[in-house]
Amino acid sequence: MKRTCYCGEVNESMIGKEVILEGWVHRNRDHGGLTFLDLRDREGIVQVVFDPQTDPKAHETAKRTKSEYVVRIKGYVRRRPEGTENPKLKTGMVEVVGKEIEVLNTSLPTPFKIEDDIEISEEVRLRYRFLDLRRPSMQRKLILRHKAAQAVRRFLDQEGFLELETPFLTKSTPEGARDFLVPSRLNPGRFYALPQSPQLFKQIFMISGYDRYFQIVKCFRDEDLRADRQPEFTQIDLEMAFAERDDVMSVTEGILKTIFKVIDVEIETPFKRISYREAMDRYGSDKPDTRFGLEMETVNNIFADTQFKVFKKAVDEGKTIKALCVPEGNKLSRKDLDDLINMAISEGAGGLVWMRVQEGGKLQSPVAKFLSEGETEKLLDKLNASEGSVILLVAEDWEKSCEVLGNIRLHLGKKLSLIDEDKYSFLWVIDFPLLDWDEEEKRYVAVHHPFTAPMDEDIELLDSDPLKVRAKAYDVVLNGNEIGGGSIRIHRQDIQSKIFNLLGIGKEEAEAKFGFLLEALQYGAPPHGGLALGFDRIMAIITKSPSIRDVIAFPKTQKALCLMTGAPSEVSKKQLDELFIKVVPPKK
Ligand code: AMO
Repeated sequence: MKRTCYCGEVNESMIGKEVILEGWVHRNRDHGGLTFLDLRDREGIVQVVFDPQTDPKAHETAKRTKSEYVVRIKGYVRRRPEGTENPKLKTGMVEVVGKEIEVLNTSLPTPFKIEDDIEISEEVRLRYRFLDLRRPSMQRKLILRHKAAQAVRRFLDQEGFLELETPFLTKSTPEGARDFLVPSRLNPGRFYALPQSPQLFKQIFMISGYDRYFQIVKCFRDEDLRADRQPEFTQIDLEMAFAERDDVMSVTEGILKTIFKVIDVEIETPFKRISYREAMDRYGSDKPDTRFGLEMETVNNIFADTQFKVFKKAVDEGKTIKALCVPEGNKLSRKDLDDLINMAISEGAGGLVWMRVQEGGKLQSPVAKFLSEGETEKLLDKLNASEGSVILLVAEDWEKSCEVLGNIRLHLGKKLSLIDEDKYSFLWVIDFPLLDWDEEEKRYVAVHHPFTAPMDEDIELLDSDPLKVRAKAYDVVLNGNEIGGGSIRIHRQDIQSKIFNLLGIGKEEAEAKFGFLLEALQYGAPPHGGLALGFDRIMAIITKSPSIRDVIAFPKTQKALCLMTGAPSEVSKKQLDELFIKVVPPKK
């Protein structure tokens, strides 16, 4: 007996034909003396009916099966009797009349039903992932993931990209997170690092002449986990030689178009582009959610000579006063406003000023009495505020003001249901600064990574005003999520050394960490650049999953544990001895 098709594939064109099906008993029901088995496999569920009159032996066996037993059945397809069709089921117009049944395996009672829409904690789901993955929604998600990956491979192959592998046992890569280390038995005291990304190897591929590389590849980062972060995750990683920013962006848009075609969504390209500065100014985020408006304004001009001391001082000190006008302000209670103030304070702002716009453009606000008529008028005008609006203001350093009000914008977008959940809003954020200043360490740090090229027109600023230098870097953002990032790389050794200098990476350290790249750069490195997309994040958005754990077959918890296998686990003393490792328990 060989399977003729999947359960979920049985359809009306097979009526009258014999089928052999294999799968799991989803449900076993007795009805009017007949036994109905809902048989399930990865393609769906079909109803199989056993009649004691015509097939007593098969009926007896079918009757004794329980949920999640594995069976093989032979029967023929017939139209369901009128009135018993199930339009919710793909196979709902037909049923299989079971003539023979073989139980291939039994099952213990499962800790939860293999169904969607059941209330179980994620902990239990992850502990019994082998059962959780049987649920139809999980199967749909992982099958879609497969289809998307294959579509990307086909697309990139057509575009002339080569799928080349890079090592997992390697050296630390500079993506800014902690490394996962693997001890070397053959080289006592030495460690490999699992790659945070294939960054340096893909650059080497360009230098070696393998123009247009890609890989759908696991990356490993030991960082604090959140809903959109896993310690091992998958990137669609690519690199192109002789390429400019626009070339990388257009290939990336092609990849995303391809992925969205898999779910029958036609996305418009090219995506809008905005500079980092503008993204922060308008949305208070470098990954703005542009599915809704609620844009911010800078209002320093209006308060240059104000009597309101807090704003006057802020303007004089070169701080930035950002304002957000909420047209649906009437929906915000006094308590909501207090909550917003607390939110702003907890994020590091000194406070938050609110103003309700009342009839005739009058303001109701704890600070209203300090504002002149002219200031009020200009503010309402600038923000297009009318009766019922609430205006929110924060005065801090530029970045802080933008971020704090940006988070409030996001919070209100959700709270006031301003976000169209069916929309896909893509955006390129470009012109990032090359460097940031780390106040704690008192040194410059790379915003992307140290191999990102500065803008040609800003190179002179590297000496005079490094923080003003913009990078040839770009992030792709979808609905407020950073789904990818990349850059044009430095391909000249002199500029690379200069950047290392600025970053406080001395010659010796550079040599020890990236000597191989620095060396390779001296042997005819072509101009090159690339990008990596976060495949898990994209799949989570497409499948409307609350976390990337839902689109990863075997994910880790927020504490980086695999609840199914129990990893990470202790190892034997023998194994540790072989690796010359001694575990010192953490101090309590
Ligand atoms: P970056 O560090 O921006 O760039 O990573 C690229 C994309 O990978 C996704 N991502 C993650 N997804 C899940 N869990 C994580 N812990 C995680 N970290 C990152 C994000 C991110 O945009 N080598 C460069 C790319 C390049 O310059 O070509 C890099 O890795 O969606």
